[in-house]
Amino acid sequence: MLVSAKEMLTKAKAGHYAVGQFNINNLEWTKSILLTAEELKSPVILGVSEGAGKYMCGFKTVAAMVKAMIEELNITVPVALHLDHGTYEGAKKCIEAGFSSVMFDGSHYPIEENIEKTKELVAICNEKGLSLEAEVGAIGGEEDGVIGGGEVADPDECKRIADLGVTMLAAGIGNIHGKYPENWPGLRFDVLAAIQEKTGTMPLVLHGGTGIPADMIQKAISLGVSKINVNTECQLSFAAATRAYIEAGKDLQGKGFDPRKLLAPGAQAIRDTVKEKMELFGSVGKA
Ligand code: 13P
Repeated sequence: MLVSAKEMLTKAKAGHYAVGQFNINNLEWTKSILLTAEELKSPVILGVSEGAGKYMCGFKTVAAMVKAMIEELNITVPVALHLDHGTYEGAKKCIEAGFSSVMFDGSHYPIEENIEKTKELVAICNEKGLSLEAEVGAIGGEEDGVIGGGEVADPDECKRIADLGVTMLAAGIGNIHGKYPENWPGLRFDVLAAIQEKTGTMPLVLHGGTGIPADMIQKAISLGVSKINVNTECQLSFAAATRAYIEAGKDLQGKGFDPRKLLAPGAQAIRDTVKEKMELFGSVGKA
């Protein structure tokens, strides 16, 4: 069922595990993630970047596809459909289109402006029963053309945003979208602990889930992270499986060129990746 992310994250925070946000790009991606969540009885968050929304013919198309798929596939676990790194305008569009959750990423604004805009969206989301994610301290790396400088968030600013009544808070702690460089110094657990101390029960969000070692993920969860975003890893596993299929020549033989067959190995690879992450995050059986 399509729900806001509030209850699943409150439970995750209390139970010391994290719910995965997996970004979707097309029908196969969405189907793979939903089927895996149902199989593992795990809550799940489907992330949609503004670029992916545009690619899939707009947020209304995405919302209609996800709602219909939940019904047709008999998905009973809680599913949140969430805008990832939204602009202020994008957040409003998703609210109208029927998303159950939005992220407003105002981290590139001066803090006062981030607070003003986040506050307005808190009021709208509260009225409609939607969850809202805010961000303080840009996440490093590039995602869909949005480049973050890898800032480390100021715990006092985090508290100011958390106090506005957002559902969950993404704070930069040295995490980066995409692959981590060889010389990456690791997550700033000292900052994470300080943010957790100031924001109390607020579920914290870890972006850039691809490539963070398992022990760091577990430590982040123990320090209050209850939502972890994964995108690049699904893209890499999808691409590798599709490439292997093509290189084996199967797409050129018999019915191998049938798009349903061509995309099947990639879809399975996404299922395997999502399963591995749900097990690592501890969300299996928590639906
Ligand atoms: P990765 O692409 O590094 O997995 O990050 C995903 C993310 O944080 C989406 O917001």
